[in-house]
Amino acid sequence: MKRVLSGVQPTGDIHIGNYVGAMMHFVELQQDHECYFCIVDLHALTVPQDPEELRNKTYELAGIYLAIGLDPEKSTIFVQSQVSAHAELAWLLSCMAYFGELSRMTQFKDKSKGKENVSVGLFTYPVLMAADILLYQADYVPVGNDQKQHLELTRDLAERFNNRFGETFVLPEPLIADVGARIMSLTDPTKKMSKSDADENGRINLLDSPDVVKKKIMRAITDSESVIRYDPENKPGVSNLLSLYSVMSGLSIPDLEKKYEGCGYGILKKDLVDVVNEKLKAIQDMYYGFSRGELEMILRKGREKAEAVAEKTLHDVKSKMGLVMF
Ligand code: TYM
Repeated sequence: MKRVLSGVQPTGDIHIGNYVGAMMHFVELQQDHECYFCIVDLHALTVPQDPEELRNKTYELAGIYLAIGLDPEKSTIFVQSQVSAHAELAWLLSCMAYFGELSRMTQFKDKSKGKENVSVGLFTYPVLMAADILLYQADYVPVGNDQKQHLELTRDLAERFNNRFGETFVLPEPLIADVGARIMSLTDPTKKMSKSDADENGRINLLDSPDVVKKKIMRAITDSESVIRYDPENKPGVSNLLSLYSVMSGLSIPDLEKKYEGCGYGILKKDLVDVVNEKLKAIQDMYYGFSRGELEMILRKGREKAEAVAEKTLHDVKSKMGLVMF
């Protein structure tokens, strides 16, 4: 069976962009793949976090993983920091990664722009992500469009290691959906929807109430043309709503354009509110049913399963690199 690994940071609010860009696909993939889904708390530490909040968000994300339909009997769900092989392999790989290639990472450039004290962790973040993936010999990595460059680096590092020390790592392939891999902000559709955006109205959180969802969608920025057409360049706002609608409903974008021919934006938005709220209700009904004890039990089991696989790869890597093994 082919292996899948992906991760989500337990920071900010998990939003509908995270869901349609990545997490929704986790649920489909678990049916016929060996899946590992990680809560990447070490990645969260690359920017300052409130300790209590980070812990709470970690449990929250575990609950969301289960609520969207991840089944712990089928998927291994675990917390990154609980499997120490991630941090260890990240160090070993960082000794093979080049300063130049990390300097070219656009996410690092965006996140560090204009900041005075940027952590070294933010700079080496993609190496830790490569470690997450390569430890499990993942064939596929379902992610949103913004992670594409990190996946390319992961493949480069894996190839470099294999060339130098012999076949060790599987070269992972990104799985990036055609529709929904880059959901934009509702208030500024030229910017991607983001967990950390100070403007709350730009994103729909998976745990938002129906009223809040309605308010955010009805206020979403569109344009003055009033024609429902998919044209991301000239009509980014409407195109974003159509993408969301399409992935949430399963209807294709051309079908939606036909359905709403001659209609105003208000009708499209109203229907989208219903589609989104129906989906979120199912997720929220599940989410509020888990106790912290249940979540811990699942994460503990996940850690054991993940550790067994990760340790095997780490042992092989250390031995090939010439570290003493006894
Ligand atoms: P993170 O936590 O920022 O986002 C989680 C997933 O959501 C996707 N995503 C989006 N998709 C569509 N539209 C958007 N607006 C949008 N915003 C976010 C992201 O692409 C991601 O798939 N570096 C990763 C976490 C990570 C990881 C890994 C992923 C760490 N190790 C190993 C895969 C494999 C991140 O920060 O995702």
